[in-house]
Amino acid sequence: MSGPDLRRAAAAVALTLVEPGMRLGIGTGSTANAFVELLGERVRGGLDIVGVPTSEATRIAATRAGILLATLEEMPQLDLTIDGADEIDGQMRLIKGGGAALLREKIVACASTRMVVIADAAKSVAMLGAFPLPVEVNAFGLSSTRIAVAAAIAAAGCAGALTLRTGPDGAPLTTDGGHYILDAHLGRIPDPEALSSALWAVPGVVEHGLFLGIATGAILAEARDGEAVVTRLGGV
Ligand code: A5P
Repeated sequence: MSGPDLRRAAAAVALTLVEPGMRLGIGTGSTANAFVELLGERVRGGLDIVGVPTSEATRIAATRAGILLATLEEMPQLDLTIDGADEIDGQMRLIKGGGAALLREKIVACASTRMVVIADAAKSVAMLGAFPLPVEVNAFGLSSTRIAVAAAIAAAGCAGALTLRTGPDGAPLTTDGGHYILDAHLGRIPDPEALSSALWAVPGVVEHGLFLGIATGAILAEARDGEAVVTRLGGV
């Protein structure tokens, strides 16, 4: 039972939540891609839904899969968003943004009545923070913003290196929104709400990857005796 098998198992359960006529937010990353593939099969079989992608990468993948898409401008309120996560804790608080799509992911999730996370159960943690927290920042004043972000992190009782994310070419990675990402290597985030508030108070911070009180459900897949076993949280 490999990672792709587990991602597909979680995505298959998420597909059972999709009903004809739904306005769907479609996440980003390898688990969301598994969902896109399965959803595409259903759409080609006649399922009538409209999707809003959370990134350019997902827009391209969903288009290839034959899924009818709209922008959030055209369809500003959604029924359900299905997306992956980098970490999920017992309160369904998340770290997202490993794929650099956190801003659009958060906007789309918050425009949805429900947001359901699909993930390998290995993403489940007792405390958020082992995965570096992405902080999306405006390119203007990067050095000043970086100092202020470090101070906000310290004020929220956390510590760790802040690194500017780079792309394959070694240049700073630019998000779909044209911003940069600082990854905060904190190890542990004892008070995510305090850190969220502190980061939002920094001019230049566009968004951060803490999704607090946004996920309404989760579908987590793990391997047991060679089978994929799925745990559903939040009454999904
Ligand atoms: C994209 O920016 C992220 O929030 C992804 O949802 C997250 O990184 C999970 O990706 P995988 O499903 O590839 O692990």
